[in-house]
Amino acid sequence: MTKSTVPPGVFEFLDATHIRVGEHLQVLRQLVDRIATDGLDHVSQERAKEVLDFFANDARQHHLDEEKHVFPALLASPDPEVVHAAKRLTQDHGWLEENWLAIEPSLSAAADGNTWFDVTELNHALDVFEALYQEHIELEETLAYPAARKRLADVNTDGMGREMAARRVAQKAKAHSKRD
Ligand SMILES: [Fe+2]
Ligand SMILES: [Fe+2]
Repeated sequence: MTKSTVPPGVFEFLDATHIRVGEHLQVLRQLVDRIATDGLDHVSQERAKEVLDFFANDARQHHLDEEKHVFPALLASPDPEVVHAAKRLTQDHGWLEENWLAIEPSLSAAADGNTWFDVTELNHALDVFEALYQEHIELEETLAYPAARKRLADVNTDGMGREMAARRVAQKAKAHSKRD
């Protein structure tokens, strides 16, 4: 799977993260199918850890990247369609978080080797999560990102990239200190 480091181009990094979201959604789908047919084994436990780590950390950081650096430029646009999209996308982040919270406990259990959760319910929650994420990313890539690229064309985005990278370092340090 593609790796997570913030490169100099902010939009290149945001695009690369969308690819990683798609990859992790696919792994999650395969994982739930596998648990439904074969039960939980060591391989599935490891996959569950990987997917948990991605959506609990990288995906949330990605939403923050957009809320801090992309959506404000759109909210200040004179085009009502662009402003509306920024508001909807911000609201989607809230729904995605809620959807994720419906999935996370089952996945956490799977990562710990427990199977108390209902696979049919998990499957249903994943349907909702997947559909909203796909629709959300499509709106970002077709409307929001192109509009933001235009509005930020004359802005030096180095500071944004630095903030994004620094936030990840701080978050990793925090996660690490919790584990110790
Ligand atoms: Fe987003
Ligand atoms: Fe996004």
